[in-house]
Amino acid sequence: MEKYILITGASSGLGKETALQLAKDGYNVFAGVRKQENKETLESLHKNITAVFLDVTSEESVNCAFQEISKLTNNLYAIVNNAGIAVGGPVEFLPVDVLKKQFDVNVFGAIRVVQKFFSFLDKNGSRIVNISSMASYGVFPFVSPYCASKRALDMFFNSLLVENKNENLKIISIKPGVVSTPIWNKSVDACEKTFENVTQDCRDKYEKELLFLAGNARKNTQKGLKAQDIAKLVSKVLSKKNPKLSYNIGKDSHFARLLSFLPQKVCNFLVKTGLKKRIG
Ligand SMILES: NC(=O)c1ccc[n+]([C@@H]2O[C@H](COP(=O)([O-])OP(=O)(O)OC[C@H]3O[C@@H](n4cnc5c(N)ncnc54)[C@H](OP(=O)(O)O)[C@@H]3O)[C@@H](O)[C@H]2O)c1
Repeated sequence: MEKYILITGASSGLGKETALQLAKDGYNVFAGVRKQENKETLESLHKNITAVFLDVTSEESVNCAFQEISKLTNNLYAIVNNAGIAVGGPVEFLPVDVLKKQFDVNVFGAIRVVQKFFSFLDKNGSRIVNISSMASYGVFPFVSPYCASKRALDMFFNSLLVENKNENLKIISIKPGVVSTPIWNKSVDACEKTFENVTQDCRDKYEKELLFLAGNARKNTQKGLKAQDIAKLVSKVLSKKNPKLSYNIGKDSHFARLLSFLPQKVCNFLVKTGLKKRIG
């Protein structure tokens, strides 16, 4: 029987690689994009990919994608919530509108999509795979909006798992460490834009840390795991009979998990001291 999968945010990075991997695995993949050029590129990659316009922050867009997909099937084997952005900055000065945007994409976006397509999830066995992050462990200063969004994503979907009546539904959280994708540069660009006209007070307090972290984040586009590593893990999680609830991938992700077992006070001390030492 043909198996259909919907993946959000498939224009680049993990989403694009995962869409391609799943298409090669033989799934029919609905790949969410926001631009015509990305639709064309994705569909040229593999015959099993159908790109659909899907902005997860827009109810209208989610409804249109639903109409499009329902012309082809009303049965999904899996939804992969991958679309995401990363917002950073010091909590003391982060505009609330920017925080809302972070949650609208990473958290409410995933919920919006899953609520709309929930009735399509195969009652005989289906999966929701969330591309969370090691950030869900919340031990990273100056990227608290991103960390909070990933923790919230994991929490909402864990509740969904416990609450819902579809006994055959599996919900899996994948928590990668650093992966070299465009997200890092996009995130620093957005952060620089948010803080370009900051007050002297903000500059005096946080400039050194922000410059250091921005430099580090930009380097991440060149290091870390490859998007394909995550794509292969998603593929494995979709084919395994009994997948785990949560997967860490990358040494940094395993380390973040270990750190999170420490008492918060100890963890905060280690992170703060480490940051001070590196910034000088
Ligand atoms: N890279 C890492 O180190 C890393 C580590 C852990 C977890 N992750 C997670 O992996 C996921 C994919 O990120 P990536 O690293 O592959 O970055 P990426 O290349 O920047 O991909 C992000 C994707 O999300 C899409 N997107 C953004 N806003 C959207 C919206 N409102 N509606 C629909 N799609 C939207 C983007 O589409 P457009 O091109 O249209 O903007 C793009 O396709 C994210 O959830 C991220 O948090 C990444």
